[in-house]
Amino acid sequence: MFGRSYTPIGMSDVIFLGFLVICLVLLVGITVTMVYFIIRYSRKRHPQAEQIPGNIPLEIIWTVLPTVLVLGMFYYGWVGFKTLRQVPGDALQISVTGRMWTWTFEYPNGLKANTLKVPVKKAVNLNLISADVLHSFFVPAFRIKEDAVPGMKTYLWFQAEREGTYDVFCSEYCGTGHSGMLSKIEVVSQDVFDQWYAGETAKPVKAPDGAALVVSAGCTGCHSLDGSRIVGPSLKGIFGEKTHVLTDGVERDIVVDEDYIRRSLLEPGKDVVEGYPAIMPAQTQLSAEEIDAIIDYLKTLK
Ligand code: CUA
Repeated sequence: MFGRSYTPIGMSDVIFLGFLVICLVLLVGITVTMVYFIIRYSRKRHPQAEQIPGNIPLEIIWTVLPTVLVLGMFYYGWVGFKTLRQVPGDALQISVTGRMWTWTFEYPNGLKANTLKVPVKKAVNLNLISADVLHSFFVPAFRIKEDAVPGMKTYLWFQAEREGTYDVFCSEYCGTGHSGMLSKIEVVSQDVFDQWYAGETAKPVKAPDGAALVVSAGCTGCHSLDGSRIVGPSLKGIFGEKTHVLTDGVERDIVVDEDYIRRSLLEPGKDVVEGYPAIMPAQTQLSAEEIDAIIDYLKTLK
């Protein structure tokens, strides 16, 4: 019934529907029998209690039937689990990093992105790691979910059968920005994918781009670019401005300069803008050039 051609999507749906039908049949059967017994053997209709000495054929039936049923359900559950764990050998390998509060995808050629683009009808294996706390990579449309655990490698695979855009969620509570830890999987034809992939690979290595970095590093999950308040202070027009911060619990005024931005990225707990929670994770994954690019970009955000 389940050849290797089955993907987690088909597998999960078939097993889920099978179990649902079994449960529905049992629910209806048990309820109908119960109601029948209540009526048939009510005191009014059946005033004299009867001693029943036992019924061997009945005992055998209600022992063997549930055993076979439960073992059968276990078998298909196990087959389904094996399908989820056995990645086809020709799968496209992609690294996924969960970090408060973004997902970053890295392709074999080193290309990094915040949304995942993959070819249709092609097995894709996602190797998950976490840079900080527990996250969980969840794609409801593909029936897959797996934890991203700090210090541990986990994986999951899928094969999209139709082109389209699918939602990615984080399904493990990971702090203030958890509900915003969203991404997309864009499924395109093999041709479109190959062209895009070759094009991105051929691009010359360019200097870090601050505007792209504030998105890819996850800054915009908490800091707006338009002056509105999300989790942390907006990044709009802050460069050169005075701000009120708490340093080791002591209030003081400082001017937002290059040093302050660099410090805020690497040691976010040092000077925390008053009125905001001190929850930002240190962005130690950023290189010195990347931090300079972010600083240059913030200067332009008037
Ligand atoms: Cu990451 Cu919730």
